[in-house]
Amino acid sequence: MSMNYAISDALYKKASNVIPGGVSSNNRANWQPHPLFYQKARGAYVWDVDENKYIDYVLGRGPLITGHSHPRILDAIAQQYQAGQFFAGQTELEIVLAEKIKALVPGAEMVRFCNSGSEAVHVALRLARSATGREKIIRFEGHYHGWLDNIAWGFSTPEDTAQDTGALLAMSRGQPAGDAGNILALRWNDTDALERVLASQAGDIAAVVTEPIMFNSFWSNILPEKNYLARMRELCDHYRIPLIFDEIQTGFRTAIGGAQARYGVIPDIATFAKALGGPVCLAAVGGKEQYMRLLAGAQTLHTGTYNAFPPFLAGAITNLEILADNGGAELARIHLLSESLRAGLQDIAAGTALPLQVRASPGAVTTTFRAAPAVARDYRTARRELSHPLFVMWHAALQARGVRITPEGLWYVSTAHCAADIDYTLEQAAAAVAALEQTGGLA
Ligand SMILES: Cc1ncc(COP(=O)(O)O)c(C=O)c1O
Repeated sequence: MSMNYAISDALYKKASNVIPGGVSSNNRANWQPHPLFYQKARGAYVWDVDENKYIDYVLGRGPLITGHSHPRILDAIAQQYQAGQFFAGQTELEIVLAEKIKALVPGAEMVRFCNSGSEAVHVALRLARSATGREKIIRFEGHYHGWLDNIAWGFSTPEDTAQDTGALLAMSRGQPAGDAGNILALRWNDTDALERVLASQAGDIAAVVTEPIMFNSFWSNILPEKNYLARMRELCDHYRIPLIFDEIQTGFRTAIGGAQARYGVIPDIATFAKALGGPVCLAAVGGKEQYMRLLAGAQTLHTGTYNAFPPFLAGAITNLEILADNGGAELARIHLLSESLRAGLQDIAAGTALPLQVRASPGAVTTTFRAAPAVARDYRTARRELSHPLFVMWHAALQARGVRITPEGLWYVSTAHCAADIDYTLEQAAAAVAALEQTGGLA
């Protein structure tokens, strides 16, 4: 069960001479045995440059909800590429896509387009600050909202921070320390913590921003507890603070209308990317008119040479048609498949002494190695007794059997997967667990 990575290895060495770390996103560095190079992909499958074939549950880290190289989407993109690319002006495609999002997402009364999730979050924070005239943002530990300076604080915490708002850690060196003063990072799924902080500081708060399902790093697929999001909504209404849902992971995956539709809690502003576009780089901000219309004036700035790139709009329209047409039958099929994957992995976890735990939300599954028996409800409980070496071994054992998941244990499912793929995957996962048991994972 070992694969040959000779060409990838040579390319990685070559790349490292001209590209720092050999990668263009730091997230791509932690692959085993080193970042791999890929040459082609179709449907649910990816081939690396050494001709190793993988069934893909990484899906570009979420965007490829309709699988790789969907012919209808590629046609739509190609037609618009032929018709024209950049106009630095409007196309009707923009209206079509905005109307589609508005029809599908309960809180998206108006929509603006940009290029990446980080940018969309930037727009949402800008809108909230512009609307309120305040500066501070409440966010939650373990949630990821992109890498930009003004929000990349408080993702992780110093080990033993007990208080509501511990010492804030920056995600990176090079971030101006002054930005930390505008962030309060609270424990998630903890209504009391939010109530306490709002009771004393609401007058300074420009927004509460949350992932409606915690979906990043080793703490993915942690669900909001009953009424937690609804209470957050009530508190924001009470204190007149805009509520932002970062739906970059959940949008068009958890439900066609996003987590806001699934939980019936409507934010003031929401951000979308990933499954919105499928194979294109596209993000959007969708929210209530009272906030979104601020962008119509000259005083609240959002610009971008690459915003609403017409070929990508055409691709995204077709991507959403595939997911949403026929009453959302294709998304419903993804949900059935991800449930079979979850149930099968859960059975495997139940049959091993390894601390394998399984979590899921519709369309995505998490496998984690965590000895703590308590259900993970936030960053701190999810992190407790995590076994990093087991993650590395698990990722490598699956990869050696042609199953590709993220190094943090997240599995995305697409319309290109089928029941036979899930059966095959579960056989490989069982074999990977057996290999881990034998090679000392139990030691
Ligand atoms: C919830 C969430 N917000 C924001 C981002 C940042 O998006 P991007 O990587 O497109 O900048 C991500 C990326 O994974 C995300 O998961």
